Amino acid sequence: MTRAHSLLNTRLAAAQPSATYRMMDRAALRKATGYPVISLTAGEPDFDTPPHVREAGIAAIGAGHTRYTPVAGLRALREAVAAKYQRENGLDVAWLDTIVCSGGKQVLYNALAATLNEGDEVIIPSPYWVSYPEMVQICGGLSVIVPCTAATGFKLTPAALEAAITPRTKWLILNSPSNPTGAVYTREELVELGRALLAHAHVLILSDDIYEHLIFDGAAFCTLAQAVPALQERTLTMNGVSKAYAMTGWRIGFGTGPRWLLEAMEKLQGQQTSGACSISQHAALAALNGPKDFIAQSRAQFQRRRDLLVAQLNQTPGLRCETPAGAFYAFVSCAGLIGRRSAGGVLLDSDEAVAVALLEEANVGVVHGSAFGLAHHLRFAYAIGEASLQQAGAAVRDFCALAGPA
Ligand SMILES: Cc1ncc(COP(=O)(O)O)c(C=O)c1O
Repeated sequence: MTRAHSLLNTRLAAAQPSATYRMMDRAALRKATGYPVISLTAGEPDFDTPPHVREAGIAAIGAGHTRYTPVAGLRALREAVAAKYQRENGLDVAWLDTIVCSGGKQVLYNALAATLNEGDEVIIPSPYWVSYPEMVQICGGLSVIVPCTAATGFKLTPAALEAAITPRTKWLILNSPSNPTGAVYTREELVELGRALLAHAHVLILSDDIYEHLIFDGAAFCTLAQAVPALQERTLTMNGVSKAYAMTGWRIGFGTGPRWLLEAMEKLQGQQTSGACSISQHAALAALNGPKDFIAQSRAQFQRRRDLLVAQLNQTPGLRCETPAGAFYAFVSCAGLIGRRSAGGVLLDSDEAVAVALLEEANVGVVHGSAFGLAHHLRFAYAIGEASLQQAGAAVRDFCALAGPA
């Protein structure tokens, strides 16, 4: 152990940097070196923030809204958040039942940091978003990973949930639509999970709804507290403007939950970042209270891209993927490639080896599934235009077709 390492907080030292960022950086670096890389690594919409939202941000600067805001957010924005939860999710929420943070990530992190004591358990269905286990680790908790396979649509079943709950369970994290699988829980599935949770009053639930509006084929979104109102008093329903309004850089997330929890999160935030950026809060207000046609348009575009990509991948030897119901990710089995050798001579002995070879030989950037807790898979983010997607699909097909025996 180096001296610098020994100076670090031990919980942070044991945490991993984000694998998604690592692959994103690697693809960007190769592109900057002159290779024609198409990157399907990034978890952000490629669209611009809608014009009326951008203008609200500019107007906020002009009007001098450039000072500290209350720690938990501007009252007007909290009222808009409460109205959003009532209108879109049927939740009975007053503005005091909400909190605004610097991105959805801060909502999640602060909820965990505000509640976890050393050794508290957090149930995380796998495949999971890369940040959950690392946040739990940094906050001193223990991740209890519950594997969910393609056989259950990558979704947690009540039986698997029951088996994972112990007296030390503090949280269950649910994410629908899911990053990385695109899986979406139906109302009926949430009711079933809720039935199991009702029997365990000590378990808090974190519902990560950040991809709420990216749900396809006319399906309706449902969040846990809506499906099982009796659980609202111990559920933190988290969301934000990043994915729905193409506002990843503005850093505004929000949540609703029990007031004791929101107060603890506010106390923490008050000693940390204080209120989120004042300009971004005004822009988020315009997004939440403004026209919603942008959401329908981007949903339709993502659905077209999904269909295009899934059709291409399923015609590719060695790859197989179910049609994801939401988000903008395809979680693809590459089991058929494992143990083979790429045309460039690389032994494809893991999904990470496949992802790296795809980048270096086919100039397509993806993230390996083991980063999300399930080996022999690749995550393709289809947040790029259709022409590039088509081109990437063709390059992946050629790469796979040329792979030979070990
Ligand atoms: C599942 C999930 N939750 C939360 C977030 C964080 O969103 P934000 O950019 O608002 O912090 C992301 C971002 O990639 C995500 O994929």
